[in-house]
Amino acid sequence: MSKQDKVIIFDTTLRDGEQAPGASMNQREKMEVALALERMGVDIIEAGFPVISKGDFESVQMIARKIKTSSVAGLARSIKKDIEAAGEALKSAKHPRIHVFLATSKIHLEYKLKKTPDEIVQMAVDSVTQARKLCADVEFSPEDASRSEKDFLYRVLEAVIKAGARTVNIPDTVGYAMPEQYGKLIVDIRNNVPNIHKAIISVHCHNDLGLAVANSLAAVKNGARQVECTINGIGERAGNASMEEIVMALRTRQDFFGCSTGIKTTEISRTSRLVSKFTGFAVAPNKAIVGANAFRHESGIHQDGVLKEPTTYEIMRPEDVGFSGIGLVLGKHSGRHALKARLKQLGIELNDAELVKAFERFKDLCDKKKEVFDEDLIAIVEDQTQKEVKDIWILESLAVKSGTHIKPEVEVKLKSGGKSHVRKATGDGPIDACYVAIDEITGLKGKLLNYGIQSVTQGKDAQGEVRVRVNFNGQKAMGIGMSTDVIEASVKAYLNAVNKTCAALKSKTRLSEKAIDFGLQP
Ligand code: KIV
Ligand code: ZN
Repeated sequence: MSKQDKVIIFDTTLRDGEQAPGASMNQREKMEVALALERMGVDIIEAGFPVISKGDFESVQMIARKIKTSSVAGLARSIKKDIEAAGEALKSAKHPRIHVFLATSKIHLEYKLKKTPDEIVQMAVDSVTQARKLCADVEFSPEDASRSEKDFLYRVLEAVIKAGARTVNIPDTVGYAMPEQYGKLIVDIRNNVPNIHKAIISVHCHNDLGLAVANSLAAVKNGARQVECTINGIGERAGNASMEEIVMALRTRQDFFGCSTGIKTTEISRTSRLVSKFTGFAVAPNKAIVGANAFRHESGIHQDGVLKEPTTYEIMRPEDVGFSGIGLVLGKHSGRHALKARLKQLGIELNDAELVKAFERFKDLCDKKKEVFDEDLIAIVEDQTQKEVKDIWILESLAVKSGTHIKPEVEVKLKSGGKSHVRKATGDGPIDACYVAIDEITGLKGKLLNYGIQSVTQGKDAQGEVRVRVNFNGQKAMGIGMSTDVIEASVKAYLNAVNKTCAALKSKTRLSEKAIDFGLQP
């Protein structure tokens, strides 16, 4: 395969993805995502927008220091201090890239930037020239390219390539383009920008009309060789092009595209779960590639066909994306070695102490649940990781009285420092009542920002996984809790957020390393 056939995967989960309302991750979480992206073979990781905040600067810096095989990019407006901040944050990166952007559409020039076309060309050239002094690898994005006048776009692209941009990205910033039109734009750029052969053409599509992936693929078909995308398609408004869909489309339809990526596709499921866990954005069951139902066949005719020959109804193998399936793996009589071996097959390696804890929880679950699936095991380990926060408050017991015509009443008993604390409370519902009781005991007043519940597997006895995001007097924390009882899962999730907050408050400094370790939102 020639070099031209490789499509470079530029992941922007940590920058554009994190810009999605409510998706913010703390530094420890960002680092974990960056490591997962590197493990899956992403070519470029856009780690953040260094000038935007101290937190963003530090995240990019941390990621730049740690990531060795992928390039690490930092975003900058066409402004001196942005480019300086990006250069500084990326100083220790093995493969740094500065990504500079400036809008080129008439509407942005007139209303947002209030600049003439000549001024825009000059600004773009000056920024790329400045960035090139700090970094050999510079990408330029004419923001809102798909709505820009083509002749002006060609002029800007030619000028920035001349100034040293190695990659020119063509954003469909507002998700306005249609696949045919966007593909043609790539062809037109190739035919009308004289020095285009000196740069890679990249694409960056938003999903406002649900066309981000289709547009990106149309661009690849017409010569683009870098795609900017995010895990699970998270991002501003309706999101960005979803990486897993792009990668699997290119792989599954190699006959059509004649291109491939360097992505280790078996890491897809795991990375998708990680991003979902940290952002609190659940993946829809019918989401292509990573949804829980993406490889499940319900209809008898389909099941029969798949059993006879999987390719009758499956165009991809679930194992190719690291989907573990719903096989019954372990039960009441399975021992610790069996658990360890199965977790290893799922890509999870635990040390001895972690394994002891996971085994205890596995046995507890076997008492409550007839069948234990791979998803249950993964959930146990993920829940345990959350618990690595020191449990200052532990749930001892919970009693709930609730029904159709009665006001819910609960009694919550928590333990802290060897002492038990009990409170009775009422509320709008049993979960609200529990949260009132917890607030009274802990003295923290929590405002629930987000609450989400989903079942880990199928069946009436499935475990419920609750994710909450809570604001405790300006300190925001995410919590996860699991149980076969959804009220208990809700209490555990809230307590997980309480414990993170207590730990961070204890360490006083909001942005101290300790707060970051505890997973607290700066
Ligand atoms: O959508 C967009 O135009 C962007 C640019 C900064 C590349 O995110
Ligand atoms: Zn974008």
